Amino acid sequence: MPRPPATFATARLLGRVPRVEDAPAVFTAYASDPAVTRFLSWPAYDRVPPLTAFLRECVAHWEKGAGHLAWLLCLKGTDTPIGSIGVNLDDAGKAMFGYVLAKKFWGHGMAAEALTFLADWSLAQPGIHRAWAFCDVENPASVRVMEKAGMVREGVLRRWHTCPSLGPEPRDCVVCAKVR
Ligand SMILES: CC(C)(COP(=O)(O)OP(=O)(O)OC[C@H]1O[C@@H](n2cnc3c(N)ncnc32)[C@H](O)[C@@H]1OP(=O)(O)O)[C@@H](O)C(=O)NCCC(=O)NCCS
Repeated sequence: MPRPPATFATARLLGRVPRVEDAPAVFTAYASDPAVTRFLSWPAYDRVPPLTAFLRECVAHWEKGAGHLAWLLCLKGTDTPIGSIGVNLDDAGKAMFGYVLAKKFWGHGMAAEALTFLADWSLAQPGIHRAWAFCDVENPASVRVMEKAGMVREGVLRRWHTCPSLGPEPRDCVVCAKVR
């Protein structure tokens, strides 16, 4: 599998590999906000140390070049995280993305900007033929992000993903993909 770039730039954003020391800033910007984590696979953090541990795992994934590879998103010209986007590359040529932004930055097309760049990067790699993502059926803003990144809605994965903030039951998700 190709190795994704450690940094990337779009018109307004810089994506960079997380550092353990980012934990307090990530906590304040978005990871402690239940409005942000509502549809995510993790509940809002109530303390910084578990987030530090998570970022340590992220760094380890980058060192190994395997697993979920996450970037922190910063406004260009700054080093302060305002969100994150990540990818899982599998051996069958599929790149699966996930993304999150601090609430203050919602509604400006920034998640789509980052996803567009990375989906296109992935499909430019010889071994990758499918860039995809899914989101909860009740998260239409995220469906739009996928569509604006050129992904096409393929259907609903029933009982696919559990959002701990919404309870223990697996929920239905919209799946979108861009392929070549
Ligand atoms: C989902 C999320 C990433 C969207 O990012 P964003 O940068 O604010 O997205 P955009 O600025 O492109 O705006 C979202 C689009 O959805 C549309 N939208 C927003 N709320 C909507 C709603 N309730 N119904 C229909 N469309 C909606 C907006 O109109 C916009 O579309 P447009 O550009 O065609 O007008 C952001 O809200 C977020 O971080 N949410 C919390 C984490 C999350 O849910 N991540 C996704 C997990 S799969």
